[in-house]
Amino acid sequence: MADIVEKKFSVTDGGREDIPQCAAIACHSEIGRRYGFRVADIEEKMAASIDRTSLLLVARALCDEGTTAAASTVAGFAWIEPRGAFGQAPYLKLIAVDEKSRSSGVGALLLAEFERRTISTGTAWLLLVSDFNRRAVSFYERHGYAQAGRLPSFAKEDIDEIIMYKRHW
Ligand SMILES: CC(C)(COP(=O)(O)OP(=O)(O)OC[C@H]1O[C@@H](n2cnc3c(N)ncnc32)[C@H](O)[C@@H]1OP(=O)(O)O)[C@@H](O)C(=O)NCCC(=O)NCCS
Repeated sequence: MADIVEKKFSVTDGGREDIPQCAAIACHSEIGRRYGFRVADIEEKMAASIDRTSLLLVARALCDEGTTAAASTVAGFAWIEPRGAFGQAPYLKLIAVDEKSRSSGVGALLLAEFERRTISTGTAWLLLVSDFNRRAVSFYERHGYAQAGRLPSFAKEDIDEIIMYKRHW
């Protein structure tokens, strides 16, 4: 059963079968291009991490009748490590929405479900966002996240990661 349904999309738990589409969405985004993500590598990392500790949420388009479209249609996803930040706080490892579905509220739905699922863990939600990704920074700020620092050349030389967090107590 869907956890969140709003207008045209629903957010539910994703499974291994969704990983190829999620990896393709990530690789086709600007961060995918800037970091040189390869679909096979992302698929492998997602699968290993989901088997271990992480949670995958996927957004799917709804048909007119309110039912989800073919299971194959993933509009976006959130890859979550429930205690990934300092071993105690929820960490949003990656969120991405297919280019065709952006600015339709899918990212907001996924972010809300990330927070709902993990509210009982730790005292804040954390994520990293690349310094070039201004649209994502303002997206998070609109949803209550604050900048808390910068990690120079953290994942790739010459790209800084901005630490963003939102307290929930
Ligand atoms: C950042 C990202 C996840 C946001 O997803 P999204 O689905 O576009 O987000 P939303 O639709 O909820 O909100 C974004 C915009 O749509 C608008 N919006 C929200 N709900 C809307 C709706 N129902 N109808 C129309 N517009 C809407 C918002 O005002 C916002 O406006 P903006 O164009 O000024 O940003 C998406 O841009 C993305 O996948 N980027 C590439 C990957 C990436 O950078 N991920 C972040 C890694 S840290």
